[in-house]
Amino acid sequence: RYEQNAELLNRLSECATYFQRQLIEHPHKEKAKSYLAKDRGLSGQIAKVYGLGFAPPGWDNVLKAVGKRAELQEQLLHGGMLIEKKENAGQYYDRFRDRIMFPIRDTRGRVIAFGGRAFGDEKPKYLNSPETPVFHKNLELYGLYEAKQNTTTLDHILVVEGYMDVIVLAQHGVTNSVATLGTSINSQHFKKLFKLVDKVTLCFDGDKAGRAAAIRGLEATLPVIQDGKQVRFLFLPDGEDPDSLIRKIGKDAFLELLDDSSSLAHVLFDHARSLVTLGDEEGEAQFTQHAMSLIQNIPKESTLRSLLVKQLADQSGLSSETLTANAPTPKPLYN
Ligand code: UTP
Ligand code: MN
Ligand code: MN
Ligand code: MN
Ligand code: MN
Repeated sequence: RYEQNAELLNRLSECATYFQRQLIEHPHKEKAKSYLAKDRGLSGQIAKVYGLGFAPPGWDNVLKAVGKRAELQEQLLHGGMLIEKKENAGQYYDRFRDRIMFPIRDTRGRVIAFGGRAFGDEKPKYLNSPETPVFHKNLELYGLYEAKQNTTTLDHILVVEGYMDVIVLAQHGVTNSVATLGTSINSQHFKKLFKLVDKVTLCFDGDKAGRAAAIRGLEATLPVIQDGKQVRFLFLPDGEDPDSLIRKIGKDAFLELLDDSSSLAHVLFDHARSLVTLGDEEGEAQFTQHAMSLIQNIPKESTLRSLLVKQLADQSGLSSETLTANAPTPKPLYN
C-alpha cells in the first residue's frame, strides 16, 4: 500500500510538472498566461510559488505525457487524473481539460491532488480531484505548505474560501492563509491548525453562503477548542472575497479589518440571538437555551466554557449553576 501510494505521488508530481511546462511551451499558452496575468493580476513569481499550471484542451494530454504504459495509466486513474470511459472499460481520458491548474500539496510539499479552474463561465467553475488514497479533502487545507514555507514565524492562520483568495493574499504579502477544498471547515481541520498555531481567523465572503459557513465553522471549532487557542471571525463587506478586497483596499487596510474581527463569544451569542423567535421572557429563555446548547459542546475542562457560562449568567441574572442544571442536552453539531 505504502509503495503504491509512493507511485501515485510520483505520477501526481509528474502531472504538476507537465501542467507548469504547458504555460511555457503549449501553442495556446498565451491564453493561460494572459488569464493569470491580466484577468487575475498574478505575478509570474507568485504563480511559481503556488506551482500554477495549464491543462490544455484535449482528451488525452496527461494520458500521453505521463501515462505512456498501462501500469502508469492505472496509477493516474487511482490518482484521480484520468476517468475510465463508460462504454470502454480499460480506456481512459483526461479529467482536467482546458483549465488553470492549482496543485494541492500536503504539509511536506508533495502534490496530492489538483484544483482546476475554467477560463470562463463553464461549469463547474472549479473541478477538484476526487477522493483518492492520497487525497482526503476533509483533512487537507490548500496553501498550508506554502504558508509554512513563506511565513517566518507562523503563529496565526487565516482560513479563506478559495484558491485564488490564498494566492492573491500571498501576492500582497499576507502569506499565512489557507483554504478548505470546496467543503466547510471541520473539526479535523481545526485540530490540524491548532497543532501549528494558537490563533485561527475564519474569513468569509460577504454573502449569504459566507455567513452560513461561519456558523458551521463555529460549530466545528467548539468540540476541539482548548485554552490557549483563539478563533476569530472576519466577515467581509457584501459581495467581496479576500481576493477582490485586498486588491481594492491594500494590505494595511486588510490587516486593520483583521484586527477588528469578531471573537468566538461574540459570534456564538449573536448566533444564539438570531435563532430567537419569541418575545419577552420567553425569548430570553430561548436565547439562553440556544447559547447553552452551543456552549456545552466546548470541552468541560476549558476555562473558555466557564467564562461563557459566566457571561450568560451575568446577562440573564441567573446563576451559572442554574444555567448548567437547566441546559438542554447538546444537539449534534456540524463537525
Ligand atoms: P467561489 O465561488 O467563492 O470562487 O468558491 P472563488 O474562489 O472566488 O473563484 P474565482 O475568484 O471566481 O476564481 C470558493 C471555493 O469553493 C470551491 C473552490 O475551492 C473555490 O476556490 N468551489 C467553487 C468548487 O470546488 N467548485 C466550484 O464550482 C466552485
Ligand atoms: Mn462565495
Ligand atoms: Mn469567492
Ligand atoms: Mn473570487
Ligand atoms: Mn454583533
